[in-house]
Amino acid sequence: MSEVKTVAVIGGGTMGNGIVHVFAMNGFDVKLVETKQEFVDRAMNTIDKNLSRMVSKEKISEKDRSEAIDRIQPHLNIPGAVMEADLIIEAVPENFELKKSIFEEVDKHAPDQAILASNTSSISITKLAAVTGRPSRFIGMHFFNPVPVMKLVEVINGLDTDEEVTKSIMSISEKLGKVPVPANDFPGFVSNRVLMPMINEAIFCVHEGVAEPEHVDQVMKLGMAHPMGPLRLADFIGLDVCLDILNVLYDGFKDPKYRACPLLVKMVDAGKLGDKTGEGFFTY
Ligand code: CAA
Repeated sequence: MSEVKTVAVIGGGTMGNGIVHVFAMNGFDVKLVETKQEFVDRAMNTIDKNLSRMVSKEKISEKDRSEAIDRIQPHLNIPGAVMEADLIIEAVPENFELKKSIFEEVDKHAPDQAILASNTSSISITKLAAVTGRPSRFIGMHFFNPVPVMKLVEVINGLDTDEEVTKSIMSISEKLGKVPVPANDFPGFVSNRVLMPMINEAIFCVHEGVAEPEHVDQVMKLGMAHPMGPLRLADFIGLDVCLDILNVLYDGFKDPKYRACPLLVKMVDAGKLGDKTGEGFFTY
């Protein structure tokens, strides 16, 4: 298996810029793909801000910061970014049609031996792989927010993922200072199959008047040592994203235990999506 040196990341949003950050900081050449210059600028500013915070905390040197920034090459189109990439990671919003059109284009222009990966948190890896002509070289590489801080990479094998590709992605994740954990492709993989029912149950506690949001969170923080309570975490992830993932679990397993709490549905309908809109279970 040839060594991965150049990585293209499609999407510079919260997850994408975090992924670019960790690859650049660990010596990889990174091509950051966005659709508009203003999105490129926003992603680069965020990466610079997060790297500078690490410098001020003496976790990395100023030289590390500037070298990492220099390793990032922004692109406004997919063909130019992927044609010399060894690994292409897609980190765009959770919309199958959008991801499908991106992977069709990536597949056309990326070298034959390149690995294609998706950071999806809920869409089937097998289904995404099937839109390309190389399902054996397709894999899930699921990072966690905030990417520079969270240690886990959930590595998801599609039905046809080659064992060599899994090994390569596990080893690259370790080079990023992360801990890769393998899983097979089922709705929600492991992370969201376990996390989302907990968040949903916390919302049911509020919905049924068991406790106020801050009290639900206090129970889980102080009693179970969670760094954030489940409702604070739901706001952080985005209530729309939580609802989408619960719907994927519900549709995928046809099991009522994954039914989204009506309060979650109502809050999403009201546009109260958490941190990104300034209001969710808490205000920001
Ligand atoms: N880049 C770099 N460093 C960052 C950062 C970023 N974007 N965000 C935070 N940090 C660093 C801070 O600088 C700080 O560093 P020190 O320890 O050196 O001081 C450290 O992380 C902790 O940050 P804070 O002191 O600001 O705040 P905190 O102690 O409350 O921690 C947190 C913040 C790391 C987010 C913590 O609350 C936490 O772990 N929360 C749970 C997050 C979680 O569960 N994420 C997964 C969400 S699910 C997901 O992403 C995937 C999905 O499929 C839905």
